[in-house]
Amino acid sequence: DSTAVRRDRFSGGPAREFLSSMDADARIFAADLAVDRAHVVMLAEQGIIEASAAETILGALDDVESAGFDALPDGEDVHEAIETAVIDRVGPVGGKMHTARSRNDEVATCIRHRFRDDLLDAAETTIAFREALLETAAAHADTVMPGYTHLQPAQPVTVAHFLLSYESAVARDTERLLDAYARTNRSPLGAAAFGGTPFDIDRERTADLLGFDSVVENSMDASSTRDFLVEGVSALAGLATTVSGLAEDLVVFSNKGLVSLSDDYASTSSIMPQKKNPDTLELVRATAGDATGALQGLLTTLKGLPRAYNRDLQSATGYGWTAVDEVAEAVEVVAGAVATAEWPADALADAAGEGFSTATGVADTLAMAGLPFRTAHEIVAEAGTGDLAALDGAAREVTGEPLADLADGEAVEAALDPAASVAMRDSFGGPAPDAVAGALDRAADGVAADV
Ligand code: ARG
Repeated sequence: DSTAVRRDRFSGGPAREFLSSMDADARIFAADLAVDRAHVVMLAEQGIIEASAAETILGALDDVESAGFDALPDGEDVHEAIETAVIDRVGPVGGKMHTARSRNDEVATCIRHRFRDDLLDAAETTIAFREALLETAAAHADTVMPGYTHLQPAQPVTVAHFLLSYESAVARDTERLLDAYARTNRSPLGAAAFGGTPFDIDRERTADLLGFDSVVENSMDASSTRDFLVEGVSALAGLATTVSGLAEDLVVFSNKGLVSLSDDYASTSSIMPQKKNPDTLELVRATAGDATGALQGLLTTLKGLPRAYNRDLQSATGYGWTAVDEVAEAVEVVAGAVATAEWPADALADAAGEGFSTATGVADTLAMAGLPFRTAHEIVAEAGTGDLAALDGAAREVTGEPLADLADGEAVEAALDPAASVAMRDSFGGPAPDAVAGALDRAADGVAADV
C-alpha cells in the first residue's frame, strides 16, 4: 500500500539513526499510548471512525503495551513505531488511528503529559525537602550560629533562622514548579500538523480524557510551542540555584567545623586516609550548572525557530528530561544531608561571637537609648571591639561624653552576648527565637497547603 511505499522511501539511508528519537522516546511510551487511546475514543464518539475499528485499535494498543517498549518495531520515533505495531497486529484498519492528527500535535501532547507528572514529582521533592529543613530548624531554634555577609562574620543568627531562609526560598521554587505545571497541563491534541483538520473532532473531549485542564487553542501555536518546557526548566534551574547556595554554605560550614555531615553524605580520599569530604554537596552545587546549561540549551535551540513545526523541537525535549532528573535527584540528596547533619552547638556559639559580630547590636543599643544611629555606629566602629573600656574611650572621643551617660551599661553588656544579640532582633522575620517560632508555624502551614 502507499504507506508502505512511503515508508520504504524514507526509512533507510545514512541519516536514519540521526533522525531517530527512539531511545529518548522510551520516556513517553506510556504517554503516547494514553494519547492514542484518548484520540481513538474521541474519533469513535464523533463518528469519525466506526466503533468496531476503535475497539480493534484499542485492543491492539493493550497488546502493544503489554509487549513493552523494547518489543516495538523499528521506527523514526515512538509514535511511528506504535502505529506500525498496531497495524502489524490488526492490519490496515489500524491506520485509522492517525485520522485527524499528526505526529506534531501527538508529540507535543505526549511531552506535556509526561512533563506535567515530572513537574509534580519535582514539586513533591521540594516539599519533602522543606519538611526536612523545618524539622531540623525546629530542633535548633536556640542554637546560635554566626551569620555572614561577604563570608565575613556579620551578625549572630540561629541555625533555625538560617535553615528557614532556605525553606522560604524553596517554597517559592515549589510555587514556580506548580505554576509551570498549570501551563504545561493544556492539550495541543487536535492541532494536527499545525493547520487543524477538516474532521469534526472534539478537542475538549481528548483534553478531558487525558486529564488536561484546557486546550491550547491556536493550532499553529499548539503544535510548535515549547514554552512550557522553558518555564519548567527555568523553575528547575532556579530551584537548583537555590539549593546550590545551601550546598555551598554547608561545604563552607563543614570546612570551619560548624556542621558535621553524616558519613552517608560525605566521601573519602583514595590516598589521604584522614579525609572526609563534602563531595555530595559539591555535586549538588554543580547541578545548578547543569540545569542552567539545560535552560540555555533549550532556549538556544528554540530561538529563531519559524512557525510551525521544525524538527529542532525533537532536540529541545531532552533538556526537559535532563533538568528534571538531575535537579530532583540533587534536591533529594541535599534534603538527606540536611536531615542527617549535626550542628555542634559549642563550636557554633564560639564562632558566633568571632569578629565582633555583636557590633551592630551594640550600635542599636546606643541608638535605642537616644543617640543618632550614625553617631552610635561611629562610636562602635572607633572602638573596633566589644571591650567596654574601648567603647567608653570611643564614646568620649566621638561625643565628649562617657559611655555610661549615653546608654545603660547593662544593656550594652548584654548586647555583647551573641545569644542576647540574637534575642533582641525580634522584628518580624528576624532571628530571635520568638520571631522564629511564628515563622516556623507559618512555614509548616505553607508546607501543609502545598502537599
Ligand atoms: N519525534 C518528533 C519529535 O520529537 C516528532 C516527529 C514529527 N516529525 C515530523 N517530521 N514532523 O518532535
